[in-house]
Amino acid sequence: MEEIIKKLNILLSDLQVERANLQAMHWNLQGCHSFITFHNYFNTLYDYNSIHIDAIAEFIRIYRGTPIVSLSKYVRRASLEELTQESDYSAEACIDKAFVDADLILSQLPQIFDATTSELDIGDYMATMQADYGKRLWFLRSSMKETKEEKKEETLDENPPVED
Ligand SMILES: [Fe+2]
Repeated sequence: MEEIIKKLNILLSDLQVERANLQAMHWNLQGCHSFITFHNYFNTLYDYNSIHIDAIAEFIRIYRGTPIVSLSKYVRRASLEELTQESDYSAEACIDKAFVDADLILSQLPQIFDATTSELDIGDYMATMQADYGKRLWFLRSSMKETKEEKKEETLDENPPVED
């Protein structure tokens, strides 16, 4: 049981840092043609994080552990890097960062599947999270192409082809 509690506390820490990062991107995003779409999308994602955070903390209690509650401990335990006021909040940087964070969270879930016991199974919730994170990666991957194309269009606008 110790092993799963430890893994869940690391996942909880990563989810908290990811949530803070998504909120920072929701607030500070700039220079994007689809500002409202991404402003709202980051909001939707951090709302989902709040649900996952609560569920994971409650699983820790079900397994008779204690969820970490300290913000400084979340940052120390998390493998995700936190954003700061000085971070790059261009659409491209935000989408890349959201992708990297979601990918790191998704990569932890199989280990938790492996560590679960049959009588108090967290497997169903891990499957729900995998579906959510799979969808995030798909949406963000597709959006990366869009923002790169937007950037290409902007460059073309700034440098119109020279006519003879
Ligand atoms: Fe808001």
